[in-house]
Amino acid sequence: MRMYDIIAKKRDGGTLDREELEFAVNGFVKGDVPDYQMSALLMAIYLKGMTDAETAQLTQIMAHSGDMVDLSAIEGVKADKHSTGGVGDKTTLVIAPIVAACGVKIAKMSGRGLGHTGGTVDKMEAVPGTETSLDRQRFFDQVNRIGISVIGQSGNLAPADKKMYALRDVTATIGCVPLIASSIMSKKLAAGSDCILLDVKTGNGAFMKTLEGSIELAQAMVNIGWHNGRKVAALITDMDTPLGHNIGNSLEVIESVQVLKGEGPADLTEVCYQLAANMLHLAGKGGLEECRRLAEQAVASGAAYEKLKQMFAAQGGDTAVLDDAGKFHKARFSREVLARTSGWLTATDTEKIGSSSVVLGAGRIKKEDGIDFAAGIVLHKKAGDRVEKGEAIATFYTEHEEKLDPAEAMFREALTFGDAPQALPPLVLARVTKDGVERF
Ligand code: URA
Repeated sequence: MRMYDIIAKKRDGGTLDREELEFAVNGFVKGDVPDYQMSALLMAIYLKGMTDAETAQLTQIMAHSGDMVDLSAIEGVKADKHSTGGVGDKTTLVIAPIVAACGVKIAKMSGRGLGHTGGTVDKMEAVPGTETSLDRQRFFDQVNRIGISVIGQSGNLAPADKKMYALRDVTATIGCVPLIASSIMSKKLAAGSDCILLDVKTGNGAFMKTLEGSIELAQAMVNIGWHNGRKVAALITDMDTPLGHNIGNSLEVIESVQVLKGEGPADLTEVCYQLAANMLHLAGKGGLEECRRLAEQAVASGAAYEKLKQMFAAQGGDTAVLDDAGKFHKARFSREVLARTSGWLTATDTEKIGSSSVVLGAGRIKKEDGIDFAAGIVLHKKAGDRVEKGEAIATFYTEHEEKLDPAEAMFREALTFGDAPQALPPLVLARVTKDGVERF
């Protein structure tokens, strides 16, 4: 078999078989297939697409390129979730303890933030002392004992994806549904859970900007999951506006705790309940309405918040900051961003708001960059709100005073004012299951 022929076949619109995909992917991981040939194949896939079966096979091969985590040592149903990334998206810290409090095991591997979006592992590490790289035995023991652990992704999970993603990043081949779907799902399959709920963000702060594109991606990922014996569903959720009010690592932990105490903002609370209900439903806990009730009860009884504390305590975290947000380290500098005119805040460029929080120190541009856990933004006004001249739209937090001006300039560019309120999209726009698409 020759890589040349595989590239030519895809270039001409052909369907690659399992042996051809294995030859390309495994050869690339071993170093036998050079970057230039893999780049050509990725571009051919970008231009010609892949069938569902081809995408499912590509995903399997990528998943098997490294460790396939075997969670069978953990008793019961294991559920996972994945978000395609957003601004202020702290839903894992809320949903994981709710679902665990309802008796479904969470043995989850999460990522770090990159670019304008945050990552769960960084948020967890904002709680002083928290360990996010547990060895396998400790991870399993913790989940068997308390039902929940969230850790960082192991180094050898889907190494083919790591190498292929790095190449896609520099060859303009990221934005291709079969490649995105196989990239995300190879890691999810390798991470081992039985049920996977996908939160596909859509809008100006999301990776996928349009509802149709998000639905197409969700369908591709749901199909891959079922082809591989996993129960998978997706919610398409709004990312035209940041989720909740807090952006930045410790700020997001504080807001997650508020939701778990029943005191969180309405948008974040609603999205979390819908995600949790869908996860419980996939895990066989009942119909969607019943599962929503279970999730609400887990919050109302305090069981979900206790589960969050148990998880942090088991991983060495100082739970005193969860009980009393005032105990978090505070950023050295803060600034209120005041409205210069009165009007309606009709739209926000969510990606720009995320980027201004990165400027403040809350995120990283390159993987190697450090982050300041206390840095970030608290939004006092969001799209749809009335703002009077002189009112605070947001408060910024940073360890470096010189970052306030550039962050504010970027933030102001993200705001659009009008004379009348604007109708906002629903928080959850669609639900994608193996049976079809439900639009809301
Ligand atoms: N996230 C991933 O993990 N892979 C992609 O290709 C895009 C987003």
